[in-house]
Amino acid sequence: MSTSEATAITRANIALAKYWGKSDVPLNLPAVPSISLTLDPMCTQTTVSFLSDLEQDEVSLDDQPASGRPLQRVVKVLDQVRALAGISRRARVRSGNNFPTASGLASSASGFAALVAASSAAAGLPRDDDRLSAMSRQASASAARSIYGGFVELPAGTPGDADLCARRLAPPEHWDVCIVVAVLAEGPKDVGSTEGMTLCEQTSPYYRPWIEASDALTDQVREGVLQRDLSKLGEAMEQSTLAMHACMMASRPGLLYWQPATLAALGAVKALRKQGIEVYSTMDAGPHVKALCHARDAERVASALADTPLVLRTLTARPGPDLELRQ
Ligand code: PMV
Repeated sequence: MSTSEATAITRANIALAKYWGKSDVPLNLPAVPSISLTLDPMCTQTTVSFLSDLEQDEVSLDDQPASGRPLQRVVKVLDQVRALAGISRRARVRSGNNFPTASGLASSASGFAALVAASSAAAGLPRDDDRLSAMSRQASASAARSIYGGFVELPAGTPGDADLCARRLAPPEHWDVCIVVAVLAEGPKDVGSTEGMTLCEQTSPYYRPWIEASDALTDQVREGVLQRDLSKLGEAMEQSTLAMHACMMASRPGLLYWQPATLAALGAVKALRKQGIEVYSTMDAGPHVKALCHARDAERVASALADTPLVLRTLTARPGPDLELRQ
């Protein structure tokens, strides 16, 4: 029996300028640029072994055997890696997250980045982070950003640009900020991101205005990051979040991820700002609110959010490192 094995560790990320909308669905290219922060300690660890005695790919996610759509998405990535490496062996994949799926942080970003990195290394492909980022992007666009640590940008894609990858804007030590996640509800979300984006593009009168506004918002977020100017970044981040959600809400049927707790948490962030704390909120395709602040204020922000009615718990993250690979 011949074996080749590798393990990858990648971190979750949170978009500071949001990606929502695709310019090329088969290649999964984003219609807008996005900027994210890679988060420590929220990580996925994935081990891939290509084994000559396996008849089909075996995948376990958080110790549960995968089946249906999640299994198909993993096999699609493995097929791409096998085609590139010129191998046909099936794989055993074991993947686990150290943060719960219902935590308000997407596990698909770190999950697909770890799968692409571990399977490429196990198949004997030389490490090339731009290629890993481009392949991760095809599985889940936000995953392209989890290959790199710190502050990361994924440009908008021109249709046909199969090699589009994320790039590092600044390393994790560039700026001592924190993300405090206010977890507001348990359970999986109703509408996944791809379905939601298609619905918006086809039915929301605000889809085009959202796409047109996103370049300027991303420029302001980038300047805020590079100049370590939290107010500049935060204002654009809040507008990016609310513009994305306005676009979602105006689709038919309306896509409303908000819950009463969402408004309460957004209000708590605003109230902290009135007290002089530099803190700004963002949200993804779910009800949870994530607050960006200076590390020195993180405890105060976490305790104010934890004391907000309907908030279940909080998690605090710092800028995280690049992908780690072990063979
Ligand atoms: O990469 P996906 O398909 O999971 O989409 C992510 C979309 C948002 O989380 C709402 C925004 C983002 O840029 O991460």
